[in-house]
Amino acid sequence: MAQDSQDIPSVTPKVALGISGGIAAYKAAEVLRGLQTAGCAVRVAMTKRACEFVQPLTFRALSGAHVIVDDYAPDNPDPIAHITFSQTVDLFLVAPATANIIAKFANGVADDFLTTTYLASNAPVLIAPAMNTTMWHHPATQRNLEVLRSDGVYIIDPDEGEMACGTVGPGRLSQPEKIVAAALEILRSAGGKRTNDLAGEHLLLTVGATREAIDPVRFLSNNSSGRMGFAIAEAASRRGARVTVIAGATAVAAPVNISMIRAYSAEEMYAAVMKHLPEASIFIGAAAVADYRPVQHSLQKIKKTSSSMSLELERTPDILQAVASAEQDKLLVLGFAAETENVLANAREKLQRKSLDAIIANDVTREGVGFDTVTNEVTILSRDSQAPIHVPLIAKTNVADIILDEVVRLRLRVKPFSLSEPGAVATG
Ligand code: PMT
Repeated sequence: MAQDSQDIPSVTPKVALGISGGIAAYKAAEVLRGLQTAGCAVRVAMTKRACEFVQPLTFRALSGAHVIVDDYAPDNPDPIAHITFSQTVDLFLVAPATANIIAKFANGVADDFLTTTYLASNAPVLIAPAMNTTMWHHPATQRNLEVLRSDGVYIIDPDEGEMACGTVGPGRLSQPEKIVAAALEILRSAGGKRTNDLAGEHLLLTVGATREAIDPVRFLSNNSSGRMGFAIAEAASRRGARVTVIAGATAVAAPVNISMIRAYSAEEMYAAVMKHLPEASIFIGAAAVADYRPVQHSLQKIKKTSSSMSLELERTPDILQAVASAEQDKLLVLGFAAETENVLANAREKLQRKSLDAIIANDVTREGVGFDTVTNEVTILSRDSQAPIHVPLIAKTNVADIILDEVVRLRLRVKPFSLSEPGAVATG
């Protein structure tokens, strides 16, 4: 049954709120209250340094429960709290997250309660960094954030403004209401909605790069690794769909539990897609398909007989266009748009011209976005919604689930959810 996307799961969601030692630690009280108001049960853990900014008693009074700082402390009611605490929560949220705690998480250091809890937890993790601007920009911090993103950690970038130390720039803890909204969105996505919600669907997906032969040893191609498409395939299979992947050249291992057919050229990919389309209920074009191929394909290796050579190119079949034109009953058709300028306008034009249900736009000029990266930042435009869904830079595995959330919404024809604004975490 369609869920109102503003709803959180009916069972009380449990949030572990970690507080590390920065001047913004006092704002964690507002985050805690916001989560409680939304119906969450919150337990708090603090680092020793955080206790120098705010007393644990504040959070004990607000949460009504013991605040864990040191699980070896004699007053700790649970001797293995890092295990029981971490494995019984639905979300592990750290606000504020200092440069130090980010570095420890990224490197698997477990030298206190909070860092041990991070390692011992299977729950989704959301961090809200806060630190001095220079520390935020430092390559070490950015490198650690990149590691956390690729480990699937959700990150709410800090706000810009004047810092406690007087400098101006990014580093201020994001507003508590934004942190609460992001936490609720993650809980909503993880809270059962993604279990078997694609059962009965058959996803047909193109993945990777096509290769257009010039001669037996040379070809025209691109840098698609297949990561984005395989992440969608894996997530769809986990969510109960039958998955058939038509894969061009890829640089990473394919997931298990899917059927995979290799098709290296655009022509081969077109033929394979058309063959399998009648069984499909969802089509997603994640492959980077060459738009042009050489008119002539030499059967022998071309010799270096002259100082230059020209290639005459012709258009390849547009697979996505052909699928959308097939007008197959109940088929949902989604494409990607890899853009370098006017990203949303170009994507919207493709959405309309090809009559798609949705298009996922990525600005491939941005660092960590698009080709051959483990992360992506995308905007999902759907035909029935004016409000684009912006997904900030997160692991492709997480982006995949948000794209599939949109597939589920399109299938159910429920109204779009509109938390999204740039900088907010995953929306769906
Ligand atoms: O594989 P990764 O390294 O993880 O990189 C991911 C990605 C950048 C390849 C992916 O996110 C992406 O953007 N895929 C689409 C790339 C692309 O070819 O975009 P486009 O704007 O040129 O094409 C628009 C759509 O038409 C795409 O869905 C494409 O699959 C489809 N198309 C294009 C040409 C063609 N002849 N047939 C098609 O089906």
